[in-house]
Parts: sequence; C-alpha cells; structure tokens
Amino acid sequence: MKKAAIKAINYYLPEKILTNEELAKAFPEWPADQIYQKTGIRTRHIAADDETAADLAFHAAQDLFDQSIYDAENIDMVILCTQAPDYVLPTSACTLQARLGIPSSAGAFDYNLGCSGYVYGLSIAKGLIESGSANNILLLTGNTYSKYMHAKDKNVRTIFGDAGTATLIQGVESEGELIGPFTFGTDGAGADKLIVKVSGARYTSEDEFLQGGGEKREDGFPNSTLFMDGPSIFSFTLRVVPKMLRALFAKTGLVIDDIDHFVFHQANKFMLDNLRRQSKIPKEKFILDMENIGNTISSTIPIALSNAKNEGVLKTNQNLILVSFGVGLSWAACLVKTTWDT
Ligand SMILES: CC(C)(COP(=O)(O)OP(=O)(O)OC[C@H]1O[C@@H](n2cnc3c(N)ncnc32)[C@H](O)[C@@H]1OP(=O)(O)O)[C@@H](O)C(=O)NCCC(=O)NCCS
Repeated sequence: MKKAAIKAINYYLPEKILTNEELAKAFPEWPADQIYQKTGIRTRHIAADDETAADLAFHAAQDLFDQSIYDAENIDMVILCTQAPDYVLPTSACTLQARLGIPSSAGAFDYNLGCSGYVYGLSIAKGLIESGSANNILLLTGNTYSKYMHAKDKNVRTIFGDAGTATLIQGVESEGELIGPFTFGTDGAGADKLIVKVSGARYTSEDEFLQGGGEKREDGFPNSTLFMDGPSIFSFTLRVVPKMLRALFAKTGLVIDDIDHFVFHQANKFMLDNLRRQSKIPKEKFILDMENIGNTISSTIPIALSNAKNEGVLKTNQNLILVSFGVGLSWAACLVKTTWDT
C-alpha cells in the first residue's frame, strides 16, 4: 500500500530585505531592539512591485527541480496555497503548470488558506496519493501580504514577510504512515481578527463597504489594507493550540518524549514562547526560525523544515509534529516522519 511521503522541500525569498533599523526610522516609537524583543524578527523579505506570490512559488519549485533528482515531467498534480493569486481567474496553479514545464496530464488548483495552509496541503496531498488519484504532487505555498499592508501600519509591517515554497510529496511503499494523522479546527466567528475587509467580491471599495454597514477602522487605515488584531490572535492561539496538541497526541497514542521536534507556524517569537511553555514542550525540541525571515504565512513551516534539514537538526526517520494556526480563524496539526533526502 503506497503512503504519501515528503521527498524534498525548497523555498525562495525575494531579494529586497526590510530591517528593524529601517522600520525604527519610520516608527521612532518602536526602536529596532524593541521590535526584535517583541517579535523575534530582525529582517524580513519583501516582494518587488512586479513580483507576485506565484513568482515566488515558481522560483522555489524551479530551484528544487534544478538542485534535486526530481523532474517536473513526473509531476501529476500541482497544488498552490495562496491568498495573493495573480488573478481572480484563472487559478495561479494552472499558470505555474505551464511555466514549470509540468505535463498537461497533471491536475492543478489553488486553495485559499493562510497560516494553517501547509498542514492542510499535506492532508490534501496524502488524500490524493493514498486514494490512488496522484503519485507525484508539487505542493506550493506563496504569499505577498506586503502588498496588502499600509506603509504606516507598524503593527503588521514588523511581523509579516513574503516567501514561496515548494514541497514534493510522493507515494512510496511503506508499512506505516509517513504523514498524519491530522487534527483540524475552524472558528469563522473570528474572521475579522486578521482580514482585508475590502477585497474579493463582497466589497470593491471603501465607499461600498461603508454604505453596506461597514465601519471605518479605529487605526485610521483603509479597509482595503491588512488588519490584524494582535492581542485577539494571541489569545485565540493560547485557547486552541494546547488543546489541538492534546487531541493529536490522543489520536497518535504518542507523548512528548516520542517526538523529536515540534515545528510550529513561525508567527512571532513572543507568541511561540508562550505556546511552548503552555504546551510543556522542551526548548531543545522546539524549532524557532523567523529571525531573518519573518512570518511568511503558509510558508513558515516548510522554510523551517528545509533549514532544519540543511543544518543537520532534522535527521531521517524522526517524528515531527507540525502545528499551524492563524487567519480564518483556522488551525491544523499533524504528525510527519522525516523522509526527505534533498
Ligand atoms: C503583536 C504582539 C506581539 C503584541 O504583543 P502584546 O503584548 O499583545 O502587545 P500590546 O499591544 O499589549 O503592547 C505591549 C507593548 O509592546 C509594544 N509592541 C507591540 N507590538 C510590537 C512590535 N511588533 N514591535 C515592537 N513593539 C511592539 C507596544 O507598543 C506596547 O508597548 P508599551 O508597553 O510601551 O505601550 C502580540 O499581540 C501577538 O503576538 N499577537 C499575534 C500576532 C501574530 O502573530 N499574528 C500573526 C498570526 S498568524
């Protein structure tokens, strides 16, 4: 019986770097060191004006094919997780199929999720592979939240960065599960905690939004820019993440001692330190990787996995728990066995 396994992970960061010093110059009330103390982030990468999330995912995938034994010709499904598609239609995964030289016999689709997106992507890939519908899946993530942020909104500019990632997931012969089990959760009542209210089809302008009963933002920024209620997001994660971990342990029959590393969505260090303490995870098992990357939404987990693998922190045949949470509100976690070789 074939089981889905992660075979390779790669990522791409845009060239432009935004430092805390540059942010502190724009927002003198938040010195560079305070931004670092509060977020654990020193620099983040920002997409160029003419660079999109699909471009970032494209580079991550192209480099993966160039550097590894894997070939675009063998891909039979392309899945892109993004909240910044090139067009409302067509789906960006279709354009990436052509750009990457993936055969026209492959399926391709986007799905719209934020911080929980990578874990969801693994579950979709597992379902497709283990049901016999696909065997070589290219799971892409890409986001450019920087394009949604107001230049004067320090609340979001200190946290988010842009990135794209590519993960190859393949069906392999295995007795045991290599990805999964999973736990999921959703609280759409908290949708307004991290949102671009004037976007998509519901409201196309601030005027339309206000006429439809919407309110001006208290911080004065237009509703067409990214809004984040940081403290609410913080308390939501403390509410759901330790519970989700307990549910995953109950499903797997494992305990903390059985897990080699925990890779959480790299939201910000302040929040992760609190979640780690609450969940009683030892520091040495807890991967932190946001200092020079920032919070890249659905890309944080594959970036952290790729770096930890390249630094020798992750070894073959280890048990990992991946934990994701954020915009939606949406959360998901899963068990993964390290199986990738590049
Ligand atoms: C953003 C966050 C770090 C702020 O922490 P907090 O303790 O709730 O912050 P508060 O708003 O109460 O402010 C506390 C102090 O930190 C400062 N501060 C808040 N955010 C800061 C930042 N990013 N950089 C520097 N200083 C910051 C505030 O100005 C305030 O300073 P003061 O005490 O001198 O007035 C926290 O709310 C959080 O982690 N939220 C989740 C955000 C997130 O990860 N979003 C992505 C979800 S996927």
